[in-house]
Amino acid sequence: MRSWTFKVLTLSALSALALGHWTPRPNPSADYVNYTTVTGFFLQDEASTVPGTFDYTTANFGLINRTYPTDNECSRSFTQWQKFEHYVDTLNQRSGRNVDYKVLFMGRHGEGYHNVAESYYGTPAWNCYWSLLDGNGTSVWADAKITPKGQAQAETAAKYWASRVALQKIPIPQSLYTSPLTRCLQTAEITFSGLYPRHQRVVPTVKEYFREGISGHTCDRRSTKSYIRKTFPTFEIEKGFSEQDLLFKPHFAEQPVDQDIRTKAVLDDVFGNDSNTWLSITSHSGETASLLRVLKHRVFSLSTGSVIPVLVKAETIKGTAPVTSTVAWSSISTCSTAPPLPTPTA
Ligand SMILES: *[C@@H]1O[C@H](CO)[C@@H](O)[C@H](O)[C@H]1NC(C)=O
Ligand SMILES: *[C@@H]1O[C@H](CO)[C@@H](O)[C@H](O)[C@H]1NC(C)=O
Ligand SMILES: *[C@@H]1O[C@H](CO)[C@@H](O)[C@H](O)[C@H]1NC(C)=O
Ligand SMILES: *[C@@H]1O[C@H](CO)[C@@H](O)[C@H](O)[C@H]1NC(C)=O
Repeated sequence: MRSWTFKVLTLSALSALALGHWTPRPNPSADYVNYTTVTGFFLQDEASTVPGTFDYTTANFGLINRTYPTDNECSRSFTQWQKFEHYVDTLNQRSGRNVDYKVLFMGRHGEGYHNVAESYYGTPAWNCYWSLLDGNGTSVWADAKITPKGQAQAETAAKYWASRVALQKIPIPQSLYTSPLTRCLQTAEITFSGLYPRHQRVVPTVKEYFREGISGHTCDRRSTKSYIRKTFPTFEIEKGFSEQDLLFKPHFAEQPVDQDIRTKAVLDDVFGNDSNTWLSITSHSGETASLLRVLKHRVFSLSTGSVIPVLVKAETIKGTAPVTSTVAWSSISTCSTAPPLPTPTA
């Protein structure tokens, strides 16, 4: 039985049902959602796990080998992921109508040409000069594409998902979300296009607010909606997505507090409109860091192409959310000429 059968449907939920989607949230304008990470299930939650050396492909995505209070309801042949799935389903069935649990698999895109250029020029020269250009004549990094290494990282993710399905019967994501930047669109396509049986196709939905922190660097300026539609014709694009990138401001950088406000907004949209439990979000290092802050997860930086799962508890609280004020974007400091290349070490 699904958890929502126990939940009281209010007028706004009923009108949402009439529109073809269901929301557990009684009245979004007067309530707010408090997101927390439920720890104790993934190695990435533990202080002893070192992000820099942790490899999700050798650790069952990080799922800890442990028992759950609902194991006695499971068949003895259940894998760790099946037992966890049953536990999460049970949490949802037994929670009040203001509480929802979802498991988010957050992936970082594979290596992009902007990542290579930042290493090549060094971060100071990249930040003050090269990142403001579209490229250098031989390499293009405006809305960067992924490199062959980045493609291989996404193929590794695809193979790992397939192996978890075969060996662990892992729940595959019921919904896929992605940043609108090309490196994420490519990564999501490679990772997920072969995972679903034909009759259970799930296509990624492009959402503006899953994009990277808008740094003023051209790699964070997205392409047009027409380009996305033409290049990734099977993808869904969220309603209201503008043709042009209206958020990018040359020479100005979005501040973390502002990024967290829009990350919270996109999570509210996803949690409010998507009744699925198992979701994937393909985004960026900075955007995943923002998601983890909003979810009150510990800091865990992802290398290119890697994935972190998080069990999220979303509790709708009556009343008005504590106000977080926006701050002005800062202007970035620039260099008028190209700084010299870093001297090679080695
Ligand atoms: C959110 O939930 C956490 C954990 O239950 C609690 O400590 C915190 O005060 C809550 N925050 C808000 C804004 O409701
Ligand atoms: C969990 O246990 C299995 C089988 O005993 C083992 O192969 C696997 O490496 C363990 N996973 C973790 C994350 O400890
Ligand atoms: C452009 O940058 C790439 C690294 O991103 C480098 O390999 C290449 O040599 C550069 N091209 C020129 C003309 O400097
Ligand atoms: C659900 O999606 C619609 C548009 O797709 C959006 O306007 C609405 O705010 C979303 N619901 C919530 C609770 O965010």
